Amino acid sequence: MIIDWKKIWQKIYDELKQEVSKLKIKPTLWAILVWNNSSSLRYIEQKRKWAQYVWINFKLEKFDEKISELELYNKIKSFNEDVNISWYIVQLPLPKHINSQKIINNIHPKKDVDWFHPNNQWKLLLWDESWFVPCTPAWIMEILKHENINVEWKTVCVIWRSNIVWKPVISLLINAWATVIACNSKTKNIEKFTTQAEIVIVAAWSPWLLKVNMLKVWAVVIDVWFTVINKKIHWDADTKLIDLVWSKVTPVPGWVWALTVACLMKNTLKAHNFQNKK
Ligand code: GUN
Repeated sequence: MIIDWKKIWQKIYDELKQEVSKLKIKPTLWAILVWNNSSSLRYIEQKRKWAQYVWINFKLEKFDEKISELELYNKIKSFNEDVNISWYIVQLPLPKHINSQKIINNIHPKKDVDWFHPNNQWKLLLWDESWFVPCTPAWIMEILKHENINVEWKTVCVIWRSNIVWKPVISLLINAWATVIACNSKTKNIEKFTTQAEIVIVAAWSPWLLKVNMLKVWAVVIDVWFTVINKKIHWDADTKLIDLVWSKVTPVPGWVWALTVACLMKNTLKAHNFQNKK
């Protein structure tokens, strides 16, 4: 059975529209785009489209892909110092010659609406979710809540390895009292762990990694990404899962972009409200 993400997505935008419509000064979101790969361009276009839909101003600065790390660092510094820019995002990934973590480390933590800066990630690790939550981990938790899945007492297996999704989602699950098994591409006999979990969250870029026989009955699968081979989409989870009435699985692709963007708009509004309460 496919989890109905559209209901969650619709609710987020209904609430955003209602709240932003009441504001005299509308929020503004700035974005930096360096690498024009098709995925990042699509993401940025979606961010522009849905910001406009909820009357959030969207300002994009595009840079040449050949920009040096130092030049980008200087740009980030100027964004940090610009009093007219309250918060911004740097669209990831960055070209290979730039160290992404170094750039993230230099975004001012108070302007970091993606919540990627180490100081902000620390807050999550120390159980403080009162500020923001990075966008992809935010909707993963939102989906579980929407499906009335309480992670307390449950085992959750999280498969992949990254600073911007995998680690924050592990923090959020731990905060919510889940028992977490963190797997990665070097985990041996991954089925030993997936078969113990009531919930499996996967973004392994490994087609059909998760097979039906690797799951408990009633398992919920949050499939976050996919691979394109010969123009065909391959999920990380075997699509046969959808046909099993006992299993719940998220559909890819499309919805990942949609929900990540929706959560970014939520963070932008929250940041705007924080600033205007000061
Ligand atoms: N690339 C993929 N997901 C994200 C995200 O949530 N934020 C940014 N800045 N880049 C991304």
